[in-house]
Amino acid sequence: MENWQNQPNYIKTFDEDECAIYTQDLSVFYGGTIQKLFDVSLGFKKNTITALIGASGSGKSTFLRSLNRMNDQVARVDGSIIFHDLDVNQKKINVYELRKTIGMVFQKPNPFPKSIKDNIIYALKANGQHDKATLEQLVEESLRAAALWDEVKDKLDQSALALSGGQQQRLCIARAIALKPEILLLDEPASALDPVSTAKLEDTLKQLREKYTMVMVTHNMQQASRISEYTAFFHLGHALEYDTTSNIFTNPQGSITEKYIQGSFG
Ligand SMILES: Nc1ncnc2c1ncn2[C@@H]1O[C@H](COP(=O)(O)OP(=O)(O)OP(=O)(O)O)[C@@H](O)[C@H]1O
Ligand SMILES: [Mg+2]
Repeated sequence: MENWQNQPNYIKTFDEDECAIYTQDLSVFYGGTIQKLFDVSLGFKKNTITALIGASGSGKSTFLRSLNRMNDQVARVDGSIIFHDLDVNQKKINVYELRKTIGMVFQKPNPFPKSIKDNIIYALKANGQHDKATLEQLVEESLRAAALWDEVKDKLDQSALALSGGQQQRLCIARAIALKPEILLLDEPASALDPVSTAKLEDTLKQLREKYTMVMVTHNMQQASRISEYTAFFHLGHALEYDTTSNIFTNPQGSITEKYIQGSFG
């Protein structure tokens, strides 16, 4: 491995008020001492999609999961995560409330073994919403927003597990957005999907940009260039380069970024 530590960092910064969320010197330690993320400071611009790319093990998921405190049980996370002028990486923060506002969609679709409708209602009820008419309306609204309504409107009472993988993933998005989050974190959301389902999911995400800020891990460079405005390149736990997606893909500054992108496109 060449001496990547001497590579210049090209980190694009936004003004604080342009960001939906930003980190300051975020470091993650597994098992108390094994550091896997190093002082990552990245801001995510409101109403954009930012792609996180980099080799397997470079810390993309570690970073993403820290943003809504999903790493609490398994790691020590140092540094700040600023969301609405508040450092949400503090003990006193109610992580359940936080995760409603910063929703997450995982690599493998994980609907509850319940009906399509109940997948969405379950979270809403847990959140104190019991009015039947409001629930019905939110089910339709979320499924429409996730571009799934037309495919499932006649079978809302059927099991979510009978849906295709791509439909299940859009249901998981519908379930997250029913809670009216501001940010959606997506960890390789299309990696288990075929090209047709992937295209649908990408269309859905593009539409959601109007309302939400999204941060998405992907190994698919074409996907990153199709739907993200900004891209951060992770390498051995560092955010090595961060710029507009077009700059990252056409004019990367660091040689490691360039090699990774060429390899991944080749
Ligand atoms: N729960 C955990 N306990 C201990 N080490 C972990 C844990 N989760 C991740 N790691 C380690 O942290 C490093 C970064 O892993 P991470 O999952 O963030 O990488 P990634 O960039 O998301 O990789 P991939 O593209 O394969 O998903 C790896 O060395 C991994 O083994
Ligand atoms: Mg990962």
